[in-house]
Amino acid sequence: MPHRKATPDKHAFVMVGLPARGKSYIARKLARYLRWLGHDTRVFNVGSYRRELVGAQKPSEFFSPDNPEGAAARLKVAEVALEDMIGWFERGLAIGIYDATNSTRERRAFLRSRLEAKGIEVIFVETICGDPAVVDRNVRETKLHSPDYAGIPPERAVDDFLQRIAHYERAYETVTDDEGTYVKLIDEGDKLVAYRIDGAIPARAVFFIMNLQTRTRTVWLTRHGESVYNVEDRVGGDSELSPRGVAYARSLAAFMESRRESAESDIAVWTSQLRRTIQTGSYLPESATSWRALDEIDAGVCDGMTYTEIRRSYPYDFAARAEDKLGYRYPRGESYADLIQRLEPIIIEVERCNTPIFIVGHQAVLRALYAYLMDSPPAECPFLPMPLHTVIELVPNAYGCTERRYELTC
Ligand code: F6P
Repeated sequence: MPHRKATPDKHAFVMVGLPARGKSYIARKLARYLRWLGHDTRVFNVGSYRRELVGAQKPSEFFSPDNPEGAAARLKVAEVALEDMIGWFERGLAIGIYDATNSTRERRAFLRSRLEAKGIEVIFVETICGDPAVVDRNVRETKLHSPDYAGIPPERAVDDFLQRIAHYERAYETVTDDEGTYVKLIDEGDKLVAYRIDGAIPARAVFFIMNLQTRTRTVWLTRHGESVYNVEDRVGGDSELSPRGVAYARSLAAFMESRRESAESDIAVWTSQLRRTIQTGSYLPESATSWRALDEIDAGVCDGMTYTEIRRSYPYDFAARAEDKLGYRYPRGESYADLIQRLEPIIIEVERCNTPIFIVGHQAVLRALYAYLMDSPPAECPFLPMPLHTVIELVPNAYGCTERRYELTC
């Protein structure tokens, strides 16, 4: 293939599209996913720079292409954000996401030449949506909560924002092949066009974007009920539930009954292939899908031992794990970093699934999934609190999740 080039180690995803087309949603989700996979990633949102540098509440005319002062101010803001991103790359950032409309060829050519001059590969990510109902929903769900419209009555804010979009529409030019590498997401993912996508990170990003749902849904996480091994303080294994664990499984079914009433559709129940999670899910009316990828971290030669036995038999390993719990790999087993890679297909499935999801899992696995869903820094992942007999409910909001924990009596 003539366009193949040496693999660059710095990538800039440059968002393109009219306002309220889901650019920030994709930018944030992509950043969270890449960070979770271990790539140092940051979003540079030009709207935030604008609010900081020229003030939040600008009337729609500020965004008109016929307003020279507005255009000059917006260019200045875009440059400041770009220089910040370049500065971050110079200090070691691997991936930057430049979130703005970037809706003209001229602006994109400027960004591309500045970035490529610094050895940074540019991938344009354009979102196109022609359905006014979807645009209206995006405006109401996200823009009305923006500082741009704080204190302004909703209908006036919607009107102003639609006028802002109309200004952008007059100047908007879609990305064309001569502009380099791009991916276009059309009509909420109904159609995807990818051009000259090359290399592991851009290809992975495109695959992730392809699977994104715009519909938001609740995710519940719980560990299995107390197992025989939990009682004995042993790691790993495939033991059954203890009597207390069975009582938890029953309480869980009653708890989910109340949740089911408010759920907007059927709930997908997922377990691992180990007995303790399958047994915990067995009291729910839904038939569960058992994923091997959801099995607990493989403790290798330490499987079935207590932590005291591990310290005694493998003192060097015990100390090494305490030193670097994320990177430490049990002999013939896994590390948390390995676990994150193993769970990647589950994350894709979480994003793809259009129903609420209930996951009955294990301590380490749930820490890794929670770290993704809540965007926790990778170093914190192995220490996230994940107590037994607790349901974590994660309800999506504009750009993240609201968390509630329910400790069930059993
Ligand atoms: O102790 C229960 C358990 O699920 C073990 O099977 C697993 O090895 C452990 O938790 C993971 O937690 P940590 O990484 O803190 O040892």
